[in-house]
Amino acid sequence: MSLTIALNRGRILKECLPLLARAGIEPLDDIHSSRKLIFDATGGYRLIVMRGSDVPTYVEHGVADVGITGKDTILEYGDGADFYERLDLGIGRCRLMVAAPVGADIDTGPLRVATKFVNVARSWYDGLGRQVTVIPLAGAIEIAPLTGLADVIVDIVDTGNTLRANGLEERERIVDISTRLIVNRASQKTRFDAVQTLVERLRAVTAPGS
Ligand code: PRP
Repeated sequence: MSLTIALNRGRILKECLPLLARAGIEPLDDIHSSRKLIFDATGGYRLIVMRGSDVPTYVEHGVADVGITGKDTILEYGDGADFYERLDLGIGRCRLMVAAPVGADIDTGPLRVATKFVNVARSWYDGLGRQVTVIPLAGAIEIAPLTGLADVIVDIVDTGNTLRANGLEERERIVDISTRLIVNRASQKTRFDAVQTLVERLRAVTAPGS
């Protein structure tokens, strides 16, 4: 049997499928129109589609041999992550930012930080030696400063349109993000040839310098 690949649904999946196709891996059913979540693919691969934050979990537990998800998700999963990061696929480029209402003073006084990236936010402010209150949210983070729930947000910024539309501006760049290939530790050893073949196939279709 060939490898099982965990895929991040949503925006990353859209960018990822053409890349996989160029590497010879195409789902046998239409992944966008189907309600299925597990797909057989050409080359004998099996694709499982899930929330990005679950991709590291499936890979760490070996249910998926490899996974494709954003560096943001990998960072948020934490330092104890027990898998290998093998390849930067050069897609899904964006940045993790601190953003605040335009012109707001966020340098003094207590700071409330709304975010999906609780661990990333904590370690960012720990690094600055600043005590803050981190408020976990599941989505639509931009609402938090508008409604008075938080002073700033830590979130993904791509075009910046969402920030602008909500009266927010970029303040601090935490890290640049792109989509990565991660590999289960046991699969890396016991299925070395198959993993290596996949890595090489993907590397060959990935933009140079990624
Ligand atoms: C992300 C992020 C912002 C938006 C930024 O959300 O949380 O809301 O994209 O993109 P922009 O700078 O191009 O406007 P996403 O659409 O991934 O959905 P989510 O809220 O479920 O994370």
